[in-house]
Amino acid sequence: MSRGSRVATAASAVGVGGRSGRRYTAIALLLLLAACRQKMANQPRYDPLEPSDFFADGMSARPRVPGTVARGELAVDGFMATGKINGADGNGFPFPVTAQVMNRGEERFNIYCSECHGKLGDGNGMIPSRGYRRPPSFHTDTLRSAKTGHFFDVITNGFGAMPSYAPQVPVEDRWAIIAYIRALQISQHGTIDDLPPAIRTKLTGGAQ
Ligand code: HEC
Repeated sequence: MSRGSRVATAASAVGVGGRSGRRYTAIALLLLLAACRQKMANQPRYDPLEPSDFFADGMSARPRVPGTVARGELAVDGFMATGKINGADGNGFPFPVTAQVMNRGEERFNIYCSECHGKLGDGNGMIPSRGYRRPPSFHTDTLRSAKTGHFFDVITNGFGAMPSYAPQVPVEDRWAIIAYIRALQISQHGTIDDLPPAIRTKLTGGAQ
């Protein structure tokens, strides 16, 4: 037997070379990689409240930058943020309703509410027409006399089958939407006397 063939026989006896050899190589490589991963997973880091001699105050956690608020920790109180006054639904608006606010409200209402409530707020949106629970019309006496704080609460926390829209609609936009809903309500119950005199005259051609 030549030297070469003896080595080949010995190698195949212990399963080295050929397919199984490749397998061992692969396992060895994997072990090597796993070792790398271990090193990366065990990087130096601080546990919460662990001391550090890197910083002069001996603490690893850095103090908050003065005047900043951590995400999710904004103190939410006051009419603007809750729609409530002394724990009950308030009425009116926390800031002046300008044409700009109204335009914003119209835009946001059409994006976030009209698909269910309809562009007129009558509850005839596309989604209820496909089987979702039909929302009530905003033009009922109950919702016309409901306080703005109630609308704020419904948008913020949801109502029955309607989910909360707080994640999509920031606080100021909720108020802008409510202003627009008020305008929609007036639009369905207005009389000619609600119009400014100049426009009234234009519509009636001068006759009262
Ligand atoms: C996915 C559909 C859907 C969307 C979008 C939606 N609503 Fe509703 N809404 C409903 C349904 C359904 C109800 C009735 C819930 C019930 O009675 O269970 C409702 C009820 C209401 C009510 C009446 C609460 C009461 O006192 O009866 C108000 C006000 C309201 N929604 C405002 C809004 C506003 C504002 C938006 C947009 C920010 C909005 N909704 C978006 C489905 C929706």
